[in-house]
Amino acid sequence: MFRLPFLFIVTGIISFTLFQLYSLGDFASWLTTLGDTPRYSTGWFRVHLLVLGWGTMIAMGAVYQLIPVVLQNHNLFSRKLGFVHYGFFAVGTAGLLIGFQTITIPVIAAFATLAFIGILLFAFNIGMTLYRAKKWNTVTLSTALAVGYLVLTGLSGMLMGLNFYFQQWGNFHDQLLGAHIWFGAFGWFGMLITGFSYKMYPMFYLSHGHPEKLQKVVIGLWNIGVLTGAFSFLFGAPLWLKWCGFVLIAAALTVYTVHLAQMVKHRHKNEPGAGMKWAQTLSGAISLIAIIVVLLLPFFPGIAQEPRLLVIMGWIYIFGWIGLTILSYLSKIVPFLWWTHKYGPVVGKQKTPVMSQMISDRYVHIAISCIVGSLFLMLLGLGWSLPYLTSIGGSLLALCSLIYAGMIALVFTK
Ligand code: HEM
Repeated sequence: MFRLPFLFIVTGIISFTLFQLYSLGDFASWLTTLGDTPRYSTGWFRVHLLVLGWGTMIAMGAVYQLIPVVLQNHNLFSRKLGFVHYGFFAVGTAGLLIGFQTITIPVIAAFATLAFIGILLFAFNIGMTLYRAKKWNTVTLSTALAVGYLVLTGLSGMLMGLNFYFQQWGNFHDQLLGAHIWFGAFGWFGMLITGFSYKMYPMFYLSHGHPEKLQKVVIGLWNIGVLTGAFSFLFGAPLWLKWCGFVLIAAALTVYTVHLAQMVKHRHKNEPGAGMKWAQTLSGAISLIAIIVVLLLPFFPGIAQEPRLLVIMGWIYIFGWIGLTILSYLSKIVPFLWWTHKYGPVVGKQKTPVMSQMISDRYVHIAISCIVGSLFLMLLGLGWSLPYLTSIGGSLLALCSLIYAGMIALVFTK
């Protein structure tokens, strides 16, 4: 039962470790190049090692684990298909990464297609599971929508990969890239994190009786925002329409943060663990930053044209919110899964450790604080064009992240 989610989670942790080792290896100098020329081989390689090899792997594992729990008594449509999906997706991603790093166009085109087939198998498996269970709530709806956006991300990515080879589309390729990033960053990751939080918070804070109306508001705002932003990039719409997409996402994030506070207010457990507290703080921070950015954009439209600023905003959203929220949640999910897997069957028959002994909450808090601090340094370096500060911040970020990944991996030895 646990093997499938663990396979994805362990592969994700390995990718994360590789990503950080590469960053340490070149003292994060790849980030300075990314700030100057975002579209280059190492940039594509590292970004996808993070978003596909790590983020998407972990997220897929979490979906396989959480959906049967949310559906109560409904198994996954096919566990076997889950393993086939893993094969296509892991091989496709690995080949795509090699293709990116070596700029071997046929390899990019071929393996992008394999990774996309993996995504389609995942979508089919989850789609059939949800369809058969017919239990619609905000968690299952958000998951279904997120998986739909992942399909669109993979499709646009595969089409760009094929277009590298066939060179047919001229400017349309760049429009597709804008839509690809919207579907992936806001659609897939954003929808999944918000949706999963509606389960995670009540579970770890033991919240009952909180109002759930805002969850529907978040889903509505978030989806109209993703579609407005993605299609305005896809069809080359004017800047103001793209701005409207951002406004909707900023509004959705703000409502989401208010809703997290509602769930926390109705808690019956005061100490949910550092991971949950960090996740809430990060949501507040990203909402505030999103509001500031949408307020500034009409006065300084040049922001949207400045690659360095776009890379900084991308880092704040992709690593600062999505990445750190995944890391925070992992500190709760991995001990929970491992404890249930290893000690669940023998509990009451022999002496077992308590869940809180699986990982030190104090160390989780210290490690995440250090990651946030070094991310801040790195962004200062990028913003002020100070390569040495970017390198120091980026290397510290890699080091702290490696320590954190080690702490998570150690849970499997308990
Ligand atoms: C099967 C899945 C995917 C494939 C085949 C794929 C493919 C590609 C390709 C070919 C490019 C280069 C486009 C260009 O610059 O002309 C690209 C860029 C990018 N993709 Fe993906 N992608 C996938 C999934 C994702 C996901 C899940 C995300 C999540 C956010 C993502 C985020 C990005 C970003 C941020 C860039 C720009 C990177 C840069 O310019 O350095 N991709 N992708």
